[in-house]
Amino acid sequence: MRTSLLRAAGAACLLSQTANAVQVTLSDTASVKSAASTVAYGLVKYYTGNNTGDTPGNLPSPYFWWEAGAMFGTLIDYWFLTGDETYNNITTQAMLHQVGDDDDFMPTNQTRTEGNDDQGFWGMAAMSAAENNYPNPPSDQPQWLALAQAVFNEYASRWDTTTCNGGLRWQIFQFNNGFNYKNSIANGCFFNIAARLARYTGNQTYADWAEKVWDWETGVGLITPDYKIYDGATDTAPTNCTNPDTFQWSYNAGIYLHGAAVMYNFTEDSATWKTRLDGLLAATTSHFFTNGTNILVEQACETVNLCDNDQQSFKGYMLRWLSGAAQMAPYLFPTVTPLLQANAAAAALACTGSPASGFNGMAGTACGFKWTTGAFDGEVGVGEQMNALSALMYSLVQPTTAAAVTSSSGGTSQGNPEAGTKPSTVLTLAPITTGDRVAAGFATTAIVFSILGGSVFVLK
Ligand SMILES: *[C@@H]1O[C@H](CO)[C@@H](O)[C@H](O)[C@H]1NC(C)=O
Ligand SMILES: *[C@@H]1O[C@H](CO)[C@@H](O)[C@H](O)[C@H]1NC(C)=O
Ligand SMILES: *[C@@H]1O[C@H](CO)[C@@H](O)[C@H](O)[C@H]1NC(C)=O
Ligand SMILES: *[C@@H]1O[C@H](CO)[C@@H](O)[C@H](O)[C@H]1NC(C)=O
Ligand SMILES: *[C@@H]1O[C@H](CO)[C@@H](O)[C@H](O)[C@H]1NC(C)=O
Ligand SMILES: *[C@@H]1O[C@H](CO)[C@@H](O)[C@H](O)[C@H]1NC(C)=O
Ligand SMILES: *[C@@H]1O[C@H](CO)[C@@H](O)[C@H](O)[C@H]1NC(C)=O
Repeated sequence: MRTSLLRAAGAACLLSQTANAVQVTLSDTASVKSAASTVAYGLVKYYTGNNTGDTPGNLPSPYFWWEAGAMFGTLIDYWFLTGDETYNNITTQAMLHQVGDDDDFMPTNQTRTEGNDDQGFWGMAAMSAAENNYPNPPSDQPQWLALAQAVFNEYASRWDTTTCNGGLRWQIFQFNNGFNYKNSIANGCFFNIAARLARYTGNQTYADWAEKVWDWETGVGLITPDYKIYDGATDTAPTNCTNPDTFQWSYNAGIYLHGAAVMYNFTEDSATWKTRLDGLLAATTSHFFTNGTNILVEQACETVNLCDNDQQSFKGYMLRWLSGAAQMAPYLFPTVTPLLQANAAAAALACTGSPASGFNGMAGTACGFKWTTGAFDGEVGVGEQMNALSALMYSLVQPTTAAAVTSSSGGTSQGNPEAGTKPSTVLTLAPITTGDRVAAGFATTAIVFSILGGSVFVLK
């Protein structure tokens, strides 16, 4: 069934390829912006949250809530890099609709199944809004910087020293599968937000927490001495975090790469943060960017065609954080620019699809998942479209591109260091229902299945 679907998509693609495609000349800024706008149109076509009766901020099934947060983070950068305001209204509406009763991105509809990483992708979108001077919400609404601070403060309160000497758990609530898993993405969200808050506000407390997360990740072996970043580890006996899941995902590499670059920018400390940054970049390029061509590959699942909906979106975040790292440490541009350029060109070649279903953008402009083949591979969705948009728009980042502002360099977002510290409405949550338990477990099992599936496939 999967095969025949792919074949149908491939045939449609052949018919339309000459009629339409995302054309781009990388040396021409206007051309890159135009290509990005075509791909962004196809991305936002997946969004239904601004339709009458739908919920602002939600993507339709099968996309989880966190991915919507990631999408609005991408659209905030899209506005900043291209100047195109088309999606600002739906972005602001969605961001503010999802803040929840406590202004901390824990809306009641999501809270029971929400993980630390889910909250983090919305928190990082708010942080990007502050750093980009994205238009501030009306003064009676929560402000971007304060929202990021709320997420930070809640992370700090959830730091758990009862096992493995600390760390954030993947899940927030004990009743969710994954509560006993301490992982790199949850801690990476904490690290990334803490580093950026330190730089934006100048408050050392945030930098101290970023150091603490880094020390924990390396201490427990989730960041290896050669800067590989493993997925996470179960904190229960008998292994107590000593037997990590060693899968490497590009979003983990990217989130620490960017956080380390921000810490280097903030501390200007070559002995520690520049060393770490250089180590992370070297490990990242050798593992994820295919030798010779510099094309980004989601190594753990792409080569065996087993990436799930979540994993299908990771490459875009890698490029977001790679370009952001170069902005925070401009000496990296000679290494980073060729990677950004190569992937923009490769992604554009993959945006030539006209699948019979699953895509509502302009015919001939659907983006496939793989960028290594020079053609549309028939895989479409929010992840594929957002990855290609990211590849195109982050290639606009050059040494002359304005970098993230701070409160002392033009940043206008209002903060609140106490955000997220008042007693939470979350504490009054009703007992978990079976339906919620199944939904929460899905994210866990999806990863496990994909890993098992990957191994089986390789062994065959
Ligand atoms: C939702 O937003 C999109 C993108 O801005 C727009 O094209 C569409 O008309 C909006 N839908 C409604 C019902 O307002
Ligand atoms: C929660 O879900 C209800 C029912 O679908 C919806 O009307 C409401 O807007 C949602 N609230 C948030 C904050 O998403
Ligand atoms: C955004 O909303 C404002 C106020 O409702 C409206 O004037 C403007 O036309 C909208 N912009 C877009 C691109 O939809
Ligand atoms: C794991 O933790 C449990 C409970 O704290 C302890 O009894 C056990 O010895 C630990 N195992 C290892 C391998 O450290
Ligand atoms: C690049 O080449 C090195 C050495 O041959 C190899 O270990 C590594 O796996 C290659 N990386 C990729 C992404 O193919
Ligand atoms: C920090 O980032 C700014 C903005 O890109 C840059 O001008 C400055 O040189 C960076 N600092 C360091 C130590 O690289
Ligand atoms: C710095 O951040 C910490 C942690 O949120 C907060 O407690 C403290 O009040 C902040 N200091 C200032 C001067 O804002």
